[in-house]
Order: sequence, then structure tokens, then C-alpha cells
Amino acid sequence: MSIRFIKDTQQFVINTKNTTYAFAIHRDRYLCHTYYGKRVRSAALPEKRLKMYSFAPYIAEYGEKESPDIFMQECSFYGSGDFRANSLRLCSADGTGVTDFVYSSYRIFKGRRELDGLPAGRADEHTQTLEITMTDSVSGCKLMLYYTVFAENDIISRYMVIENLGEHSVRIDKCMPLTLDLPRSDLDMISLYGRHNHEVNLQRVPLHHGVQSVGSRRGATSHQYNPFIALCDSKATEEKGEAYGFNFVYSGSFLDEVEVDQTNGTRVLIGLGSECFSYTLGVGESFCSPEAVMTYSANGIGQMSRNFHGFIRNNIMPPVSLEPHPVVLNTWEACYFRINEEILLDFAREAKKTGFDMLVMDDGWFGKRNNDRAGLGDWFENREKFPDGLASFVKKVKAEGIKFGIWVEPEMVNPDSDLYRAHPEWALRVEGREPLRSRHQFVLDMANDEVVEYLMEMFDKTFEGIDIDYFKWDMNRHMSNVGSSVLAPERQGEAHFRYMKGVYKLLSWFGKRFPNAVIETCSGGGGRYDIGMMQYGIQIWTSDNTNPYDRTYIQASAMMGYPAATMSCHVSDPHGDLKSLDYRYKVALGGMLGYELNILKMSDEIKETIARQIAEYKSFDSLARLGDYHSLALPTKYGYSAYYYVNADRSEILLSVIEKKDCKKGSTKLLKIREAIADAIYTDKRSGKQYSGETLRRGISVELSGEPDSATLMYLQREI
Ligand code: DGJ
Repeated sequence: MSIRFIKDTQQFVINTKNTTYAFAIHRDRYLCHTYYGKRVRSAALPEKRLKMYSFAPYIAEYGEKESPDIFMQECSFYGSGDFRANSLRLCSADGTGVTDFVYSSYRIFKGRRELDGLPAGRADEHTQTLEITMTDSVSGCKLMLYYTVFAENDIISRYMVIENLGEHSVRIDKCMPLTLDLPRSDLDMISLYGRHNHEVNLQRVPLHHGVQSVGSRRGATSHQYNPFIALCDSKATEEKGEAYGFNFVYSGSFLDEVEVDQTNGTRVLIGLGSECFSYTLGVGESFCSPEAVMTYSANGIGQMSRNFHGFIRNNIMPPVSLEPHPVVLNTWEACYFRINEEILLDFAREAKKTGFDMLVMDDGWFGKRNNDRAGLGDWFENREKFPDGLASFVKKVKAEGIKFGIWVEPEMVNPDSDLYRAHPEWALRVEGREPLRSRHQFVLDMANDEVVEYLMEMFDKTFEGIDIDYFKWDMNRHMSNVGSSVLAPERQGEAHFRYMKGVYKLLSWFGKRFPNAVIETCSGGGGRYDIGMMQYGIQIWTSDNTNPYDRTYIQASAMMGYPAATMSCHVSDPHGDLKSLDYRYKVALGGMLGYELNILKMSDEIKETIARQIAEYKSFDSLARLGDYHSLALPTKYGYSAYYYVNADRSEILLSVIEKKDCKKGSTKLLKIREAIADAIYTDKRSGKQYSGETLRRGISVELSGEPDSATLMYLQREI
């Protein structure tokens, strides 16, 4: 059993493969967190934290030592004596926002509770859940806290359900399903920040007193701040030290808050926040939050990352993503909007000859879509570009012996579109205020069921009987003027959350309606690079930036929290230069390989090189897709990036060393491949050189050339 209740000490103990999480019921009322760390026996669990601090409020009967402001809590409530950042603020009929939920009962069960229309970790045979029920006597509300355990990857997830069993409506004003109080603050915080075209830059800074946070008010998790964060020892490295990782299984506006308090404790809160979220619960109604996840590693940051990698691959991504992902030729950077049947059939023919699995027709095929000013919302083929229609075109592509993928951006509408002319009220906007445009487009109100139903009908008709293998699902602006024509004024705070539920509903519908197709998600590159989206697609377009130098940074940082299988990596135009092509290919091998270049303008030599690259990639693509990732040098810290992937039985290793532009010529790096089996012999299939496992573990020397576009790749196979 992963979850136990120990009667004597009134503790709940949650064990994963390598970790223990524990909390205690105190005075039949409070839930006091006691431990999260390396797996320990329950006898070794520490005591509750009961200590007197002045200015800390308490219940008279329990005395001054027992303040909710000092307890490490599992969930904290606004207005009830805990002055730190709170997990829940619920406004009941008295209008104060004060609640005081007290422990009522628990239940442990196999599997998990499904979340209403939200993505969530898929239960496997080991999954167990602890449900804690708390009640607030004044509002009459019931709160259920859930702890679902994915023991194999040391992941614990947290979500909450609130039921209004009282006599009046209540409004949730802040909702943070994950609360973790740690008794220390000597930690660094790692987060991923960025912008469009430069997502997921790594930031590592020491915690300080006060609240430090990342979040999004953009209606998407965003390019600017990713929901993944980690806390680690200040000296923690990839292989040593303690690290705690957190993430949110959600794709909309969010908040990660970390507060260092007066006791030098640290509180972590992950959730929907309060700025872009409120939710009214009528009598008898309930609300289910999205799920947040956490992990702990005693063996460095690398193990924390691998815990998330394994969980996302096995419990989040669609099972089909474990199979080889198609090597695509995407038309965007080659053609932008200048596509038509003739050009694309030439693309399909050449792509097939060069060894591609699939042609992906990007933006520009529908409505009056000749640039980004028109057409979104009109999801029918542009007859000037496809005179015989989409169905006939796709048949011709298929006749070339290649698969077919197509771009869509369902959540958006251009003011210059038939859809907007017919239904301006379907775009998010606030009555009497000029709606802002971004990329000349508005955001459809996905909180409105009618809009979601309409999109289903439209796509159903457009793609009926067409053999589509792949959708690239894009989202190219953030939400402003967030007002929904179907929500009453007092419910407008629900628009962000209901929007996301509408998106998830449509995504699930796509999956069911087109069961033979897979989805790649995208939001102007990595604007929704999050675990929520990972549930629906086999991969995510990591960034619109395909410059290999920048990509080296982006990919290395993304690997902190997400597996390579989620990362769509394209080789873009190498300007006919073979060395650059080789470099771009080696950079793209960090994730799932694809290409985005004008194949009709390529020399035979370039095409032959690409064909060889694709064939080689296919010989070892399972390593990045399914293998364990070990970072040896982060490009943000050193003049180069080095990492390797290793398979489960450690018989295959793919080592990659990517030099930055300004590497020092001739400097030698010792790279330790600790996962090699000591007494085995490995052959590098690229150079034919042999190495003993012992040598690999002690380290092999790789000399940096100091030349632009230089990278070293070794594909090591164990000799039997
Ligand atoms: C943004 C995406 O990131 C690009 O790859 C491309 O699909 C364009 N949108 C098309 O408009």
C-alpha cells in the first residue's frame, strides 16, 4: 500500500518508490504537514511544528502555541489566522471571504477520481488516492482534498473538489489545489521564463523572504512563464542534492506562489490563483479544480526531471506517443501562405523520395487565408488554391505514398471572416469597449457551448471522409477583453476557466472523431508548452525559433521539466550548407525530428543528406522518445551543451555535444556516462570506435573544435 493512516500518531503516510509524504490530523481539526523527502519508516517521521510566535492568532481553548499561522498546513484558508499566501478563499453569504474548514473524514481507494472535463494523470495498476473531507460549518460547504499517487515515478498529485451543501450561493475567489509547506528556506528556485520566439529560459535564484511567483494572466500558460518550477539545495547539481519539482496539469492562466515566511519556512502553492479566476457555486453545485503535481529527488535535479519525464510519458501523453513519431516535412517556413495544390503535390513527391513519413500543410489552406489578416474561423478549403477540393487533394498526396497532416487554429477568428460577420458575439469582448487585436485576430469564446458545438459541426463537415493523419493545433494570441456573452455579470470571473474547459472538450472531440489522426499542439511555438496540452497531443511545437543556437538553449531548459517525446524539433533552412545542415540535425535530435524547408529548392546532395539523416534518426529515435535523459553540461552555464539518452537496459546510449558559436578552440571536456554498464563493451556505431563501460563511466574526452556549427554525436551500442 502506498497510502496508510497510522492511528496512534494520527498521521497519513504516502509512500512512493523513493519518497515519503506525511501529515497529521491535529485536534481533530487541522491538517499539519510533517514531512516530504526521502523514503523513511513511519517511526522516523518528525513531529508537528507547534511553537509559539508572538502576533500569531490562536483558538483560546488550544493555547498560544497552536496558531494556524505557524502550522505547516495541507491547505490554508483565507481569514482564519494563517497570514501566509492562502490555498483557498471562498466567499459565502456573509461576504467576508472567511472560512475555516475542519477535518472530517478520509477514504483511501485504488485508482483515482476523474476530473470533470480536465486533463489528469492516467491511473495505472499502482495508482492510489487519498481523499480527505473537510467541512465549513458556516457556509455549509464540503471540501475534498485529493492526493493521487503515481508511485513508480515518485509523483503525487493534488486536486480539490468543493461542494456547496449550504443554503446560499458561494464564490470561490482563489483556488490553489497544491499546498506544500517546507520547514526550510535555504533553497534555490528554478523557473522557466521567456517570450515569443525565446521560450523556456532557465532561471535559478536563491529564495528570499516574501512571495516570489510566476504565473500567467494570458489565458494560456504562455511563452513568458512556464508552470514548471523547482526548489533545490543551493549546491544541488544534476546528480547531487535535494530537489522538489512542481507543475500544473492545465493550459490556461495560472499562479505558482512561493513564500518564505517569518519562521524561515517555505510555502509552495500551485493553482488557478485569484486574478483570472472566480467561480460561483449555486446551492448543490460543485467545482473540481485542475490537478497539480509534485515530485522529490534526493539524488539531484536530474532525477527530479526524470521523475516528471516518466510520469508525463506514461500517465499523461496519449499511449500512441510511445510509438515512433512521424518525421514530417512542414510547409510553414518554406512557403508561409503561398501554398496550393500544385506546389504541395511537388512537395509530397519529393518528401516521399527523401524518406519523410508525412507532409504537414501548415497555415494558408482555408477561407481567404492569403495572409494573417483574414480567414480564421472559415474552415473550408480555399478553392483558388485547391480547385478540386481538399478531399481530392489529400487523395493525391496519399497516392504519392506519404501521410498527410493539416494545420488548424480552432479557437480564433479574424474580423475579416464569414464567421465573425455572422457571429461577432462569439468573440471574447466587453460590451462598450474596443476589443484588442493581436495578429489581426480575436479569440473565440470557448466558454460558450454553442461556439464549441459549432466548431465540432464545422470540422466534422470539412474533414468528413478525408484521410487525415495529423492535426497541428495552433493558438496565436493571448486573451484580452475577457468577457463572455453567455455569462452573467457575477459569473464573468469564470470565463478563463470555462474557456479552457471548452478547449479541452474540443480537443477530446477531435481525438474521438478522428481516431486515426494524432495531434501536435502549438501556440505560436511554445506558448502552451504544458502538461495539460501534453495529454491531447503526441508532441508540442517547442518554439517558432528554429535557429539552432537558440534551440540548444530552449531544448536544454525544457528538459528540466518535460520529456523529449513532447518536443517537436525541426531542421529549418540551412542555406544549402552541408555543415550547417548536419549541425541543425544534431540539435534537432534532442527531441522529435522534423524538417521545415523548401525541398523543391534543395540540391540532390542536400536531399541525399537529409535522407541519410532520417534513416539514421529512425535507427535510434526510441532513445530520445523513451530513454532516460542525463544532462552533462547546460549551455546556459558552459560554452556548450552535452547530454545523453540511455535506454532501460543500458545497452544503447546516444551522446550529444553541441558547441555554441563562441566555444574555445581545442578545449577538452571530460564527459562521464555514469549509466554505462561497467563491464560491458560499447561500440560507437558512427565512428566504429570501441569503449569499455568503465571508461565511459570514468569519462571520455571530447575536444571542442571552436568552429561554428560543430557538434559531436555518438551512438553507443553494447556488444553482446
Ligand atoms: C505559429 C506557429 O508556431 C508556426 O509554426 C505556424 O504554424 C504559424 N503559426 C502559422 O500561422
